[in-house]
Amino acid sequence: MEINGHTRLCGLIGNPVEHTLSPAIHNTLAEKLGHNLVYVPFHVEKGYTDDAVKGAFGLNILGLNVTVPYKSDVIGSLVAVDELAEKIGAVNTLVRCEKGYKGYNTDILGLYRAMCSEGIKIEGEQIVLLGAGGAARAVAFLCAEKGAEKVYLLNRSLEKAQAVAEEVNSICGRECISPMITADYEKLPDRKYLAIQGTSVGLHPDSDKAVIEDAGFYQKIHTGYDLIYKPAETKFMKLVKENGGCAYNGLKMLLYQAVIAYEYWNDVQVPESVAEDIYEVLKSRVAV
Ligand code: ATR
Repeated sequence: MEINGHTRLCGLIGNPVEHTLSPAIHNTLAEKLGHNLVYVPFHVEKGYTDDAVKGAFGLNILGLNVTVPYKSDVIGSLVAVDELAEKIGAVNTLVRCEKGYKGYNTDILGLYRAMCSEGIKIEGEQIVLLGAGGAARAVAFLCAEKGAEKVYLLNRSLEKAQAVAEEVNSICGRECISPMITADYEKLPDRKYLAIQGTSVGLHPDSDKAVIEDAGFYQKIHTGYDLIYKPAETKFMKLVKENGGCAYNGLKMLLYQAVIAYEYWNDVQVPESVAEDIYEVLKSRVAV
């Protein structure tokens, strides 16, 4: 692609941004869809997010992704925030509008699209959610919003699980989330669950660990979804499969959070065949 006077710019703000896969996704999307668009990472120092967002608007930048540690900080620099992103309290995508940027959380929309694409249902389900950090908290909101019957939120420290449950239940107006300490997993009612792994345990290079390693727990899981995508098969996924369940990693979530951001910025629908091509690119990049 030739960079010329019509080239639109998108990018990522965060710190660090050096290992991001987003440029590979967005620049491939632009190439495949024939858009004159370039996506670059911007390393933003602490205390400069507001300058970065205002400067981006001044430079006519079409859209930005936001990564750690600025997903909450950036909200104060926006002119509008999507309803679900506001509930979650974190945005990862800024879409240019008339007077500034509107914030969305395509991480969570991407997870939902990824789950739908795998035929995984949330509505009416009994779910075990592992973790109570930023990622798991967003998943708890998604589950409550999409009509999960019950979410058992298991965390190493009970206080954090309780705080997330209280917040989500109060915002969503129903007692959907039940907090538990992970050590009490044997007390889960005897039935089959969808389990979503939202802790950082098992992440490369600590890939020989899972937050629960007892086969008895995994016998209760019909489907396991790990938000981690490196390694491609986590210990959690192995244990789910060994005990008869289906298991998925977080790579499609990564793919679809980018696809949705790209769709918002360019007002297009990315064809599924293009998304599948990008997924192959991602798989090869993660395998390195
Ligand atoms: P993220 O933004 O990726 O969610 P985070 O907010 O730091 O990251 O949350 C990390 C999650 O992984 C938390 O639920 C954390 O449990 P605590 O709240 O008890 O700290 C969980 N976690 C991290 N290391 C863990 C470990 N060794 N065993 C169990 N849980 C762990």
